[in-house]
Amino acid sequence: MTLLTVLSAPSGQDPAPPGGVSRTGARVLLRTDDPHRISAELAALGIGFERWAATATLAPDAGQPEILAAYAADVARLTADGGYRLVDVVRMRPDGSDPTWPERAREARERFLAEHTHDEDEVRFFVEGQGCFYLHVGDRVYAVVCRAGDLLSVPAGTTHWFDMGARPEFCAIRFFQKEDGWIGHFTGDPIATRLPYLDGLLGEPGRDPATGAATATGPAAPAGAATAAGAATSAATRGGAA
Ligand SMILES: [Fe+2]
Repeated sequence: MTLLTVLSAPSGQDPAPPGGVSRTGARVLLRTDDPHRISAELAALGIGFERWAATATLAPDAGQPEILAAYAADVARLTADGGYRLVDVVRMRPDGSDPTWPERAREARERFLAEHTHDEDEVRFFVEGQGCFYLHVGDRVYAVVCRAGDLLSVPAGTTHWFDMGARPEFCAIRFFQKEDGWIGHFTGDPIATRLPYLDGLLGEPGRDPATGAATATGPAAPAGAATAAGAATSAATRGGAA
């Protein structure tokens, strides 16, 4: 289920004590899974959020052509509405057959896990799995856990970061106006390290609530990025994984 968590943004002076969602001192100002409320909260910031239908069943080995074909009508409508010239697909999913998966998953996750901006809107239509966009606006951070059917449009220049979690599993269709629209300009602000990661926001069992790392004492859970066995399928044709 889609989830919005609004947090008070820790300043650069705040300490980062170890462990726990509250390690940062960041306060949870709002937590809602009501899509109408989420849309309204984000619209007030100029951030687009819509719920679409994403019901196509994607084969495990489906690549970009098959995924774009499955959502051709949606892609055509959004492309026309937004004037986008380029569309591609990024897909991450473990399948247990690739020993390089943990490292590639870690690298993909870290690529956009620090605060950055883009020169154009970042538009993503999630059709599988989940990932979290953190939108840093003023003294607040809006953490939006997007799932299949969610369409998020982050305006150019908005400071944000993206966490695909310790065990990335998602598919998103990306819309661009320029070939290099995906390039991020990193702010150098370590704010992302002071707030809960995706797995922490979801409170998943067996994971550290702050880092999302698998814990030794938690209940049995799928291995995280450090230990997961699997393989990624990424149909991205441009740089980046988010
Ligand atoms: Fe981004």
